[in-house]
This record gives sequence, structure tokens and C-alpha cells, in this order.
Amino acid sequence: MPTLKFAVLAGDYIGPEVMAEALRVLGHVARQEGLALAPTAADVGGAGIDNHGKALPDSTLRICEASDAILFGSVGGPKWEKLPPKEQPERAALLPLRKHFTLFANIRPGLLYPELTGLSPLKSERIPDGIDIVCIRELTGGLYFGKPKETTTLPDGDVQAVDTMIYRRSEIERITETAIVTARSRKKKLCSIDKANVLETSVLWRKTVTEYVARNAPDIELSHMLVDNAAMQLVRGPNQFDVLVTENMFGDILSDEMAVICGSLGMLSSASLGAGRNSLGLPFGLYEPAGGTAPDIAGKGIANPCAQVLSCALMLRHSFGLEKPAARIEAAVRGAVTGGSRTADISFGGASVGTRAMADAIIARL
Ligand code: IPM
Ligand code: MG
Repeated sequence: MPTLKFAVLAGDYIGPEVMAEALRVLGHVARQEGLALAPTAADVGGAGIDNHGKALPDSTLRICEASDAILFGSVGGPKWEKLPPKEQPERAALLPLRKHFTLFANIRPGLLYPELTGLSPLKSERIPDGIDIVCIRELTGGLYFGKPKETTTLPDGDVQAVDTMIYRRSEIERITETAIVTARSRKKKLCSIDKANVLETSVLWRKTVTEYVARNAPDIELSHMLVDNAAMQLVRGPNQFDVLVTENMFGDILSDEMAVICGSLGMLSSASLGAGRNSLGLPFGLYEPAGGTAPDIAGKGIANPCAQVLSCALMLRHSFGLEKPAARIEAAVRGAVTGGSRTADISFGGASVGTRAMADAIIARL
């Protein structure tokens, strides 16, 4: 029986609540499909700070290293807000994990079922069939990690801070490859986003993407768009895009814009794929919901577990090569939600179910 060895980093506030339900759904699928689950739980984020003095404790990192994938919850919240920025749970847990495992490819699906279009702040006539796009964000380069990165006091007494935006051709090529694979599994349409009218890194980005696609993927229809225009086009008509690919910071911003037009953060999952291979020869990856820790509803049993459940599906697909159970989970979530089982965030103010009942509804569809 194949054994799925993964680290479970549930994190803070609603993190453990939705994680418990997602693991229950995953356990159900595993029994049906004859898969053995071998999850190992570890502290991260605020839980890491409280229990080990660090958002990413060494013991947690070791557990991740010994696993084939990381199932991540969400981290941070008011309890740790007074810490200096560098020690904040989000930054001090996620960024080192991304760097340590070279998680360079962040795949964020922007999916809004047609039945839920009313949740989007966009007028329904702009999205008659819901939204179905994917943002591929480069995750280990650019302004986030470039050196120098420092604040200095100048001889004249003024203070100056610098972040450095660096991209190598090889980094652009590998994220382009991920984007091509994603585009091929969909409509074979790829839009690369940059700021080539101003930034040197963007000039290299555009040239590299163009050449790489011409050489390796002539079947893909490639276009380019400047990031400011892309921000506008996303709200004018998101479905003019299919797959977007962009650098780290632009992707951070555009993927949040994409998330909000998709209505509820409780429905959006993401995969961060590494350059390294796991013991199965597949990409090591980190899988997490987009929503955050939602401290305001923590402990009430009403958080939407769907994004965490969908993150499990992405893990099965990308790090374990299990497409069928992944697709079954995605269909079950869709079936449960469109069939009327909805947590408060997606219930339009009507009758809603709690976290556990939502997971039950998903299990019932499996
Ligand atoms: C994200 C988050 C992180 C980022 C923060 C928490 C460091 O916003 O995953 O999009 O900026 O990448
Ligand atoms: Mg972000």
C-alpha cells in the first residue's frame, strides 16, 4: 500500500480547526483508495514562537525534511502583532520555508463556481460563468530575497533602506516551465506579467519567457502584459486570462486581487512547488489555503474548511502523483457547495453549516 509521508503544520487560530477536518476528508479518501497516510504534526508560526521561541523551530524543519510534502495551515494573528516585522509568524515561518526548500513555483488557482458568482465584488455580468484562472508566482527571487537588503544611516544623518530586485535567466526559465505545464493542462494560453517599460529585471523576464516558450512550447499561445494594466484587466474581465505567470512581488499583489474577486478566501488553495524532488521523484511542495488565520472566528467552529481540503487535493496531485483522488476531492467540494452545504462565508446570509458539517458534506459526496 503506498504510504503518504507528509508534515502537518496547522499553525494558529483557525489553522488547526480546518486542518483537523481536512485530515478527516483525506483519511476518508485514503481508505477508499487504498492509501496509507503518515502525517507528522509540528508547531509553526505563533505556536512555534510560544512553544519553541521561534516561528520555524528547528525540530519542525527536520520533520519537513524527512517528509515528502508539507501540508500547511495558516499562521499569525493579534497575539504576536507586537513582535518586530522580521519575527512575525507569517514572515519568519513562510519565507525561510520557501528559501530552505527552494519553493520557487507558487500556483494559486482563482476559482469561483458559477453558483457563487454573487460572492464576488465584481458585477455578475462580468463573470457569468464564475472565474477559473491560475496565477503562477515566482516565489524565491526578486525583491523578497535579493541582497543587499538593509537599512543604513548615511554620513549626512539621513536614513536609507534598500531592497534588491534580482532575477537570473535560469530562475525565469524554471518558472516559465511550470507555467507551460499548467497551461498545457488547461487552455494552452499563457500571459506573462512584467514591468518591462521600466525595470531591467522585467526586460530580461520578457525576453527569457518569449525565447523559452518559442523554443520549448510552440503549442502555447503566449502574451505579455504590463503589471499595472494587468491589475486593471483582472477586475474588468478576469476570464480574459487563463494562466498568468509573474515575478514574486507582482504575484503577491495580483494573487490577492485575484482572491478577492473570487469571492471567499475560504475556497482558495495554493501549492508552492520546490526545485527538489521528494522520495517519490516528484516535486517536494508546500500546500496551504489562501485565507489566513481569521482570529475573529477562531474557536467558533464556523471556519470554512474547503480551502484546506482543496490544498490536500493539490498535495495528492503534485507531490504524490495521485490525480484521481485529487480530482475526486475537488469534485466532492464542488458538489457539496453547489448542493447547498455552505459555511457562513459562502452562504449569502442564508442557512449555514459549521466546519465539521461542511467536511461531513464533502465526505458524503466522496
Ligand atoms: C503570501 C503572503 C506572504 C508573501 C507574506 C506573509 C510574507 O502575503 O503568501 O502571499 O508576501 O509572500
Ligand atoms: Mg500575499
